[in-house]
Amino acid sequence: MLKIGVMVSGGGTNLQAIIDAMKSGVITNTEIKVVISNNKNAYALERAKNAGIEAVCVSPKDFPDRAAFNEAFLEKVDEYHLDLIVLAGFLVTLPEAMIQRYRNRIINIHPSLIPSFCGVGYYGLKVHEGALKRGVKITGATVHYVDEGVDSGPIILQKAVEVKEGDTPEILQRRVMEEAEWIILPQAINMIANQ
Ligand code: GAR
Repeated sequence: MLKIGVMVSGGGTNLQAIIDAMKSGVITNTEIKVVISNNKNAYALERAKNAGIEAVCVSPKDFPDRAAFNEAFLEKVDEYHLDLIVLAGFLVTLPEAMIQRYRNRIINIHPSLIPSFCGVGYYGLKVHEGALKRGVKITGATVHYVDEGVDSGPIILQKAVEVKEGDTPEILQRRVMEEAEWIILPQAINMIANQ
């Protein structure tokens, strides 16, 4: 049984996709041990509680500096003895010590076809704003392993999504979630759980 922890910052629709995929059997041999948010108001925490999953907040605001937050965050993650850490819309830069300790055991979902529209500054709607500004006709999502860089680790799965005439960043974001993110993130977890 793969023990996973899901790290979130916002709405948690990708977390919901994981929970639903576990219920429907798309993901097998997997247990969500904890959902951790940096933001106490994240709706993702409600989604976790509604599914009977332990939901925890570790906020930088509760610590005097970044180093203290990093230490507390890593200590909290370690408590759950996780096999895999899933970043599902987690908008905090991970402590370097965590990347080293969990090498090849952290995955992230990013809402573009990496290496397009990724790296520093590209997160959430900004990714889709960038894609629309550049005029790309195809975008998508990527699941990749996390290394020391930003969105630079080995790619696990990608799925393409069409950009349509008249798309706004919000419309495109929703299509990328529905047609790509909510599909490939559960698939990647299931692949890792059953490899
Ligand atoms: C998702 O679109 C995810 O790909 C993106 O944040 C959103 C979180 O939505 N992540 C990044 O941009 C990371 N660079 P959710 O909270 O509803 O799952």
